[in-house]
Amino acid sequence: MENPSLVSIAHLSREKILYLMEMARDFELRPNRKILDGRIVATLFFEPSTRTRLSFETAAHRLGASVIGFTDPKVTSSTKGETLKDTIMMVSNYSDVIVMRHYLEGAALYASELTNTPVVNAGDGAHQHPSQTILDLYTILQTQGTLDNLNIYLVGDLKYGRTVHSLIMAMRHFHPTFHFISPKELAMPEEYKQYCREHDINFVEHEDFNEEIISGADILYMTRVQRERFSDLMEYERVKDIYVLRKEMLSMAKDNLRILHPLPRVNEIAQDVDDTPYAYYFEQAQNGIYAREAIICDVLGITLEEVRNDSTIIQ
Ligand code: CP
Repeated sequence: MENPSLVSIAHLSREKILYLMEMARDFELRPNRKILDGRIVATLFFEPSTRTRLSFETAAHRLGASVIGFTDPKVTSSTKGETLKDTIMMVSNYSDVIVMRHYLEGAALYASELTNTPVVNAGDGAHQHPSQTILDLYTILQTQGTLDNLNIYLVGDLKYGRTVHSLIMAMRHFHPTFHFISPKELAMPEEYKQYCREHDINFVEHEDFNEEIISGADILYMTRVQRERFSDLMEYERVKDIYVLRKEMLSMAKDNLRILHPLPRVNEIAQDVDDTPYAYYFEQAQNGIYAREAIICDVLGITLEEVRNDSTIIQ
């Protein structure tokens, strides 16, 4: 049987992505149900999180599931030397879905190969963050009315940013043009540029970040420079303030421009941008609940038809 886990965005077809968009839309319209009554969702966070963990847990609670897990591995037996393998073997006996964030690239894939309990990758090192990508795609579709033929500008830490890596892979089905805006130290890794070439994805690289460049964007996807990924803190200090989006830089923006950010932000979006019609990052974070309701149902084998015909909806 095919493993229902969501560990990477790379394997999702265009049809599957659009299917998940439809399911998320149903959850946006009717987020509260008991469709997961009696199920247990485990959230294992080996790295800090606010949105991903809380929105997964909110999604589970809104659908009637119970939640177990931890937010800090220091309170678990991993501090006594228990391996990730043994932790996964235990938790898969206790739960119906495992949502895991881990600092090691490939940790979610490894976990998914150990157990029949579906695993959802909630971020593995600088590698992938597929549930973020599903909510990003949902937000792009919601704001642009389509996922096809968009100009998407990715700004900031493109080297370590797992959200931008996952977004590139997902957008391969939708003929985007990407603009990669970063300092040389944080440039998009060669493997993702090669991925674009192999999948006929247009991309342009910039180091400048100004109103003229922004004027071509449908989506401006800002990212944080991730201090925790740097081994050389001097290098972090050199690049951390390099791009700050300010309100005056939006004077030439297209009407349909929407600014997204996976959050948390530090200083890369000035507070005065929040009140512009282009800011959409808080709505994007809210969409995380609907996208994650869809993901949990999907990995549990609950279909869109079952979601649409669900009689457990709480009005
Ligand atoms: N977007 C995101 O992954 O946020 P958290 O780190 O707060 O989960």
